[in-house]
Amino acid sequence: MIDWEKLISAAKVVRENAYAKFSGFEVGAALLTDDGEIITGCNVENSSFGLTICAERTATFKAVSEGHRNFVAIAVYSQSDQPARPCGACRQVLFEFNPNLEIACANTQGIVDKFILSELLPEGFRLR
Ligand code: THU
Repeated sequence: MIDWEKLISAAKVVRENAYAKFSGFEVGAALLTDDGEIITGCNVENSSFGLTICAERTATFKAVSEGHRNFVAIAVYSQSDQPARPCGACRQVLFEFNPNLEIACANTQGIVDKFILSELLPEGFRLR
């Protein structure tokens, strides 16, 4: 069983590190591995806007570079009325590791929407 409360709370905490001075839209993400580790990430914006990276990809790239590849769930925490969903680029990055990843999108008002990645990205690209 996934401890969603713990995962969402990790995403909420890491959101405090978001570097979002251009959009003001701060996001935190927490990835859960199959051995119970939680790896977090926030969005990091840049003066050259296109270089911005989302919280989900920060968490994923951190995790992979630390030796993790087996992800079971991710929590995304934001302040929007509808909790932010992972963008298309992040969906594809996550799809690489687990098309059946469980996703919780949560916001500061306590709304939590849950998805399976393959619902949000049907027919994602796989090279092999
Ligand atoms: N952003 C994320 O970090 N994750 C999402 O799921 C949606 C968008 C960031 C990117 C950018 O820094 C800001 O939110 C506004 O798009």
